[in-house]
Amino acid sequence: MDHAFNRLNLHRVRLGVVDQNKPALKTYTKMGFRIEGKAREQFFVDGKFRDVILMGILDREFRKLYSPKGMKNK
Ligand SMILES: CC(C)(COP(=O)(O)OP(=O)(O)OC[C@H]1O[C@@H](n2cnc3c(N)ncnc32)[C@H](O)[C@@H]1OP(=O)(O)O)[C@@H](O)C(=O)NCCC(=O)NCCS
Repeated sequence: MDHAFNRLNLHRVRLGVVDQNKPALKTYTKMGFRIEGKAREQFFVDGKFRDVILMGILDREFRKLYSPKGMKNK
C-alpha cells in the first residue's frame, strides 16, 4: 500500500481472496481493506467451486489509517 499510494500515487487498490481463507480475510480487514463484493464460484479449490471476496481500499482511507495522526494500531 505504501508503494501503491505514496510512490505510484494510485487512487485505489483492490484484491480478491477465496472465501475460505479466513487468515487472509482477517489480515486484509485489519489492514483497512473493505469488502466490495463477491465473485461467485470463481475458483475450483479442493474439489469445490469457491467464491472470491473482492476487497478494496482508497487512497484517502489509507491516509486516514496510516498518517502519523491516525496511525493504525494492530
Ligand atoms: C495471509 C497470511 C499472511 C496471514 O498470516 P497470519 O499469520 O494469520 O497473520 P499475521 O500474523 O501476519 O497477522 C497478525 C495480526 O496482525 C494483523 N495484521 C497483519 N498485517 C497487518 C497490517 N499491515 N496492518 C494491520 N494489521 C495487520 C493480522 O490481522 C493479525 O491480527 P491479530 O493480532 O488480531 O490476530 C497467512 O495466512 C499466509 O501466508 N497465508 C498463505 C498465503 C495466502 O493465503 N495469501 C493470501 C492470498 S489472497
